[in-house]
Amino acid sequence: MFKIAVLASGSGSNAQNLYEYFEDSQLARVELIVTNNPKAGVISRFQDKNTAVLVFDPSTDSQEMLNKLKSSVDIILLAGYMRLIPKDWTKAFAHRIVNIHPALLPKYGGKGMYGRRVHQAVSESGDLESGITIHLVNERYDEGAIVAQFKVQVTPGEPAEEIESKVRALEQEHYAPTVAKWIKDVISQQ
Ligand code: GAR
Repeated sequence: MFKIAVLASGSGSNAQNLYEYFEDSQLARVELIVTNNPKAGVISRFQDKNTAVLVFDPSTDSQEMLNKLKSSVDIILLAGYMRLIPKDWTKAFAHRIVNIHPALLPKYGGKGMYGRRVHQAVSESGDLESGITIHLVNERYDEGAIVAQFKVQVTPGEPAEEIESKVRALEQEHYAPTVAKWIKDVISQQ
């Protein structure tokens, strides 16, 4: 049974979906929720669930949190986590940290490209498709190896909120099953 920590900074819809998907799984379970944001919606989402939610300050408690993660989980999943993952974390969890990005990388990634900003950029680009990228995390924003991408059609100038809602639907449909497949095909073979 692989133990998962989910890191989230925002509302936590992906964190909840991951938690529920693995609730009855024999393969893995969400053991810990971690946030850097004491006001994040993810905290109230998990109030009545049987999973610890830890709040930490990455600028002062990074090493302490890394030690906690090393002793309690095998895999880290980012779900709307807005901070860069430091090098000692990517080293300790080499090839075992996965992120979901709300666009088709390598486009619309990098520092400052998160949430609605990504969808606004897609809207202004004239692109005919957007989607999600599920990828391994290294010490640079959005540059790790791609595990899977899923696409959706958009129209040039389509409002960012509409693109976001299509992309969020893809996230809900694909993040957890893609992680499950990756654990089966890659992690459990190591
Ligand atoms: C999601 O759309 C996720 O893809 C995005 O933030 C949102 C978090 O929503 N992540 C990024 O932009 C990372 N660069 P949630 O808190 O409801 O899961």
